[in-house]
Amino acid sequence: MATAADSKLTFTRLPHPAPVPEDAREQALADPGFGTVFSDHMVVIDWDEGTGWHDARIGPREPLALDPATAVLHYAQEIFEGLKAYRLADGSMALFRPEENARRFNQSARRLAMPELPEETFIAACLELVKTDRDWFPSLAGGSLYLRPFMFASEPFLGVRPAKQYKFLVIASPAGNYFKSGAPAVSIWVSSDYTRAAPGGTGAAKCGGNYAASLVPQAEAIERGHDQVVFLDAAEHKWIEELGGMNLFFVMDDGTIITPPLGGTILPGITRNSLITLAREEGLTIREERYSIDQWRDDAASGRLLETFACGTAAVVTAVGRVASRDGEFTIGSGGPGQLTTKLREKLVGIQRGTVEDTHGWVQRVD
Ligand code: PLP
Ligand code: COI
Repeated sequence: MATAADSKLTFTRLPHPAPVPEDAREQALADPGFGTVFSDHMVVIDWDEGTGWHDARIGPREPLALDPATAVLHYAQEIFEGLKAYRLADGSMALFRPEENARRFNQSARRLAMPELPEETFIAACLELVKTDRDWFPSLAGGSLYLRPFMFASEPFLGVRPAKQYKFLVIASPAGNYFKSGAPAVSIWVSSDYTRAAPGGTGAAKCGGNYAASLVPQAEAIERGHDQVVFLDAAEHKWIEELGGMNLFFVMDDGTIITPPLGGTILPGITRNSLITLAREEGLTIREERYSIDQWRDDAASGRLLETFACGTAAVVTAVGRVASRDGEFTIGSGGPGQLTTKLREKLVGIQRGTVEDTHGWVQRVD
């Protein structure tokens, strides 16, 4: 597979001739929810086999014209990332660990037989968009500008092989709460019929196909009155893997925390990695090891398990209060956010927003 050209790309800037008027923008920013409001601009960079990455530009966000034979529409050769830009307490803007998203993007690219994008170009593209659409930060507390970098096979071709043309884009969406209810703890449904990823598959890659396959079990969870689906491993239907869009942590009464290991079937979450670091600094023992659904139920009943929380860029750190499966339901702790969930969430959010000291160099200022 071809790798990215080394040359540094410069962005052509095409300002929007008719951006959203200020009053309409302010209205959209008052309570944007998640994923429905979009900013004025987008970044586009093209790749083809002969030239590598070229034509980096930032211009008006607009529909894409695609040939009906475009490879991604047939074989789903597509990957994406999700990261947030924050307004810090002092009014400046920052990204959280964007180099980790850039690195994971290239891991996904390799798994999907796509060209890698130089990490510096990935980050530069995100910074360009945040600077251009700096007026699109939501006004509500806890709001952020969610960035969605993605790449797809743009070659019109129906043979099954890696495409020879790709497009990389970044769009931005002002974001509030990921969960509509805004409830302090979510309720999750354990899928017995469906799995998300198998060994040797694409579970560790952030590709659209993984999410397409999660929609039926996610819809089943919603129909049954829950917020999210939790997937078990594909081989034994026993080991807890992750939610449709979040990693999981289990807090025990002896101060240890368990989280499923990165064995290729779950996404290596950047929030997961950050929380492991923060928890270890608090003197807690984190065990990256397999944890079964039966053990989860038994530990919740015996009181050995104090808390469970889910984490990810979109959902930040969210307590799991209730778990349901075909075998019945159980509640975790008091059913609301536990002490450690709250503490770790506050620490992480504090670092992201500049109110807690960033001792790891995780926060990258935009200006
Ligand atoms: N697991 C899945 C399947 C996800 O989609 C996400 C979200 O990106 C995560 C975990 C959490 O990853 P991160 O913390 O990097 O956002
Ligand atoms: C994220 O947290 O960034 C995700 O990608 C999860 C979901 C919105 C797909």
